[in-house]
Amino acid sequence: MGQVVKIKREQIETPALVIDLDILERNISVMTDFMKDKRAKLRPHFKTYKCPAISHKQISAGAKGITCAKLGEAEVLVQSGIKDVLIANQIVDPVKIFRLAALADDEAKITVAVDDPDNILALSNAAAEIGSTVYVLVEIDVGMKRCGVNTPDEVFDLAGKIVDSKGLVFEGFQAYEGHLQNRPDIEDRRRGVKEMEEKVGEIKNVLEKRGIPVKEISGAGTGTYNITADNTIWTEIQAGSYIFSDAVYNKIAVEFQNSLSVLTQVIHKRPGYAVTDAGMKVCTVDHGIPEIKNFTDLKIYGNLSEEHGTIIDEKDELEMLQKIEYIPGHCCTTVNLHDRYYCVRKGLLEAVWPILGRGKSR
Ligand SMILES: Cc1ncc(COP(=O)(O)O)c(C=O)c1O
Repeated sequence: MGQVVKIKREQIETPALVIDLDILERNISVMTDFMKDKRAKLRPHFKTYKCPAISHKQISAGAKGITCAKLGEAEVLVQSGIKDVLIANQIVDPVKIFRLAALADDEAKITVAVDDPDNILALSNAAAEIGSTVYVLVEIDVGMKRCGVNTPDEVFDLAGKIVDSKGLVFEGFQAYEGHLQNRPDIEDRRRGVKEMEEKVGEIKNVLEKRGIPVKEISGAGTGTYNITADNTIWTEIQAGSYIFSDAVYNKIAVEFQNSLSVLTQVIHKRPGYAVTDAGMKVCTVDHGIPEIKNFTDLKIYGNLSEEHGTIIDEKDELEMLQKIEYIPGHCCTTVNLHDRYYCVRKGLLEAVWPILGRGKSR
């Protein structure tokens, strides 16, 4: 067989979404080491990276299963051989409920969040008709003001309905503290987790006193995993961004490093500034504009445009055709703009992974 010549990072056509595999694997190990002696188990969130090749790496490193946000993502995961999937959201559309029940009929264990009695009835009817079993978490609103119910009685009523429903198994609670993830002060995040543990703990006690055991309590993200997994009542940690980090999490979860970047090329250079071929169609700005990797003094001017980034380059460090990397402000939304990852190790392209969950938003 002829010698395989690997292309260099700088030879990848731009714009391109690049993973540094050594850093990705290091981030996975940092999380695995942290979780090793914890009672809670890791169930990482697919919404960050949307690529089953990464899910399989996480499972090999000890994750119990995968969390996702959408039914379409769950279908991609099950097709790729993942056996234990939590959809940490409500699936309410009648057609989707049948898709969900059919997916649960496969080899995989599927768990879904609920917060509505009619939804429980519809899930049970579909599971009974198809002959499958759907595992269910009641979602508690722990302060995010997204989905979920609030009082012990509301949770008890829903849990009781699930226990009495054919085709459904009550597993416990979905309780995700999204409002705490990006708070800069760790003490502030710690206080927030303590408050929500009091609320969720009280609800758990009420259910158990009334005869309904609560097996799982699932939640947490990259900003709180080390608090929520530290001897609390949580049993599952849903962190997602830790594998990539981004410009926001760089300041909050410093134990993880940037493994994800958008490779871009200088297509125009004038004294004092340069223009690249990467705008907001390849790098999102919902959590702020990207930073420039390895150049602390370079800053993006204003906002990204659709297809361009203008970079203030006062020292004229950049030159035409040079390739540089953006660290996205928000890794999860940036990934959903791309079809594939270019996976690089020690500066050489090692693999191209399709982002199979991209756009699977229904
Ligand atoms: C339900 C749920 N769990 C966990 C997470 C944590 O993700 P991350 O670690 O990327 O902050 C999110 C983020 O949006 C989420 O929506």
